[in-house]
Amino acid sequence: MPLFFVKEKEDTAMPMPKVFEERLFPILPSIIKHFGTPFHIFDEQGIVDTGEGLKLAFKDIQGFQEFYAVKALPTPAILQIMRKLGFGLDCSSPSELMLARQNGFHGEDIMFSSNNTSAELFSMALADGGCILNLDDITMIDKVSKFPELICFRYNPGERRTGSQFIGNPVEAKYGVSHDQIIEAYRQAKERGARRFGIHTMIISNESDYRYMLETIRMLLEVIETVSGALGIKFEFFNIGGGIGIAYKPEGKPFDIDALAIESKALLDKFEQKCGYMPKLFMECGRFITGPHGALVATVVNRMSKYREYVGVDTATTTANPRPAIYETAYHHITILDRNGQPKHGSEEVVDVVGPLCENSDKFAKQRLLPKTEAGDIMVQHDTGAHSPAMGGNYNGWLRPQQLLLCADGTVELIRRAETINDLFATLRFKRKVMRGSK
Ligand SMILES: Cc1ncc(COP(=O)(O)O)c(C=O)c1O
Repeated sequence: MPLFFVKEKEDTAMPMPKVFEERLFPILPSIIKHFGTPFHIFDEQGIVDTGEGLKLAFKDIQGFQEFYAVKALPTPAILQIMRKLGFGLDCSSPSELMLARQNGFHGEDIMFSSNNTSAELFSMALADGGCILNLDDITMIDKVSKFPELICFRYNPGERRTGSQFIGNPVEAKYGVSHDQIIEAYRQAKERGARRFGIHTMIISNESDYRYMLETIRMLLEVIETVSGALGIKFEFFNIGGGIGIAYKPEGKPFDIDALAIESKALLDKFEQKCGYMPKLFMECGRFITGPHGALVATVVNRMSKYREYVGVDTATTTANPRPAIYETAYHHITILDRNGQPKHGSEEVVDVVGPLCENSDKFAKQRLLPKTEAGDIMVQHDTGAHSPAMGGNYNGWLRPQQLLLCADGTVELIRRAETINDLFATLRFKRKVMRGSK
């Protein structure tokens, strides 16, 4: 593999798993009757199967641990599934830390990787049983008032490699300690009383080729050797971040997780032979775990013809799934069902699928070939289980849809209610404060 990865990644691989479709589509009309649209629905069985599959793939690597990236889908019912799977959580904000703790994750179950962090936030992270603190810059050392025994640094390799378009070129990325500062960072941490060490990086995003992740492992093991050699410290773990891609497109290839596990074991064995010990392998995937196991269900409310053909649905990209509007290359597959929940076939047309926002980027799909669609049909947008509702906002005053869980026993549960106008206006109810004069 080349050392310089210069890649503009496009979303690749297959849309929502067939088994999810088979579980969901037959009961969709009754779910819609009960809950109304729009909603996201997540497939518990699918999430559990993927989580168990990950553990099985890495079973020969002792101490392997996944820390689910809360930002991908910060809903308590989903975090409870992670707990049952035995995963930890990756948090990077105060609210994610709170959610983690409220859902039973404590101490070293939590990896806290924030960026541009304040001293107050470090204190919060270390209170309440603490967490594994992952420092993002050498200057952060001075921001931690009571230095923990276990410390981790996020490493930015700089020009050694470039990542994907979402993370950007590491040289331009705001994350991580630079290569020429990394030994000094651990030296200062040691001086402050740290005795247990880890290292972290994340330089790929939505990557479908496992070899890029393998290169991340090779790179981190090299850095561990360098830092250990310079300072005489051992590393308990190394965290390769998230970034494993999923198959958004029908023609895409799934990420070869088994090959990654087998080849990373070989790299670790080599490291052990050379250095006499084996650090634990951690990862913090979000998309890989929940991405394919979520779908956005909306009702077609308008079918419009002008310079282009438009299918209008009852939710906005900003609130429900901003990815296609934000990322030029982001693709989410769409299935159109009739009002009885039957996938539509027959004649097709090229359309833009749009929401109601006063913003032309509000398009779930652009120039997509879909079956001829009419008002009352159902749009199912695939793979919204990660970084989709979680990235939503309230521009134009539109509200985030409800979230449902298709439980493993076939029941369907509301796990996050829809936002209300009251939620939106809550920040407008406050005691007025006025500063008079400017001197
Ligand atoms: C530090 C960190 N870890 C993990 C993740 C999860 O990435 P993914 O969902 O692509 O696996 C992200 C995503 O933004 C991240 O920034």
